[in-house]
Amino acid sequence: MKRDFLAITDFTTEQIKQTFQLALDLKSKKFVPFPLKDKTVACIFLKPSLRTRVSFEVGIGQLGGRSLYITGEEIGLGKRESIYDAAKVLSRFVDMIMIRAFDHKEVEELAQHAEIPVINGLTDLLHPCQVMGDLLTILEKKGRVEGLTIAFLGDGNNVANSWLNASTRFSFNLRIGTSPETKPDQSILERAQKAGSSQIKLSFDPKEAIKDADVVYTDVWASMGQKHLFEQKKRLLKDFQVNGDLLRQAKEDCIVMHCLPANRGEEITDEVMDGPHSVVFDQAENRLHIQKAIMLKLMS
Ligand code: CP
Ligand code: NVA
Repeated sequence: MKRDFLAITDFTTEQIKQTFQLALDLKSKKFVPFPLKDKTVACIFLKPSLRTRVSFEVGIGQLGGRSLYITGEEIGLGKRESIYDAAKVLSRFVDMIMIRAFDHKEVEELAQHAEIPVINGLTDLLHPCQVMGDLLTILEKKGRVEGLTIAFLGDGNNVANSWLNASTRFSFNLRIGTSPETKPDQSILERAQKAGSSQIKLSFDPKEAIKDADVVYTDVWASMGQKHLFEQKKRLLKDFQVNGDLLRQAKEDCIVMHCLPANRGEEITDEVMDGPHSVVFDQAENRLHIQKAIMLKLMS
């Protein structure tokens, strides 16, 4: 049966650990055949991208495959033709689909009807490839994920929701520092709390959220498709800006992460983004290695 990767919870803890090992092997070039030779991956983008597009296209090429970049206007998913029809047609031409979309349900519908693996390259709800790469970066920098305190500061968005999903597969302390109006998805939060693997704390106080954190994570205040809400979110989230003052509350050897693109001077200051704790570009690079591993895992 074909498998998809629409959420981190589509993989068991064991499968995630295997994916990390595969990504590290690929990164150290221990493993360089062309496993995607004669395979084509359709990369559908309904939103802009730098990291996801380039890392998928480069990664597919490095694995010997071919990528097709398809825009939302071109494919007209659900407009020019139904998602069902597009899924069936794409399944006859290509071997895998990577899609970046707005509505998570549309991606689920595409995956349901496609006969080939579908990877979520970001929806309004989740960004699983991002957090898989981030976990790999934490493993490299800290040697473990288990037992760490990971503080996500800012909007309860797709990245925050993916951290909640990750918390069901490992055991760490997840703090989400946000306002009462910008909390993460309620059902994902409840599921993560019910899973009981990690300690999850929602805090409306930035100092409390970041206190003694090993990992400080932030993301833009208004995600793609929500830019019209920027002024409102800025008002709600301004105290959660990751700046030098706030960072002093975290552990001395903490790492600072941001999925990028960043709005420097808003959710993160230059001082922190370019400072000694920042690992944001290592984090960006790991998107390449982890996604190659995810693709191979789905193909195996
Ligand atoms: N982090 C990330 O997914 O970046 P892009 O939006 O540039 O792909
Ligand atoms: N939360 C951001 C992540 C970008 C990679 C967004 O959805 O725009």
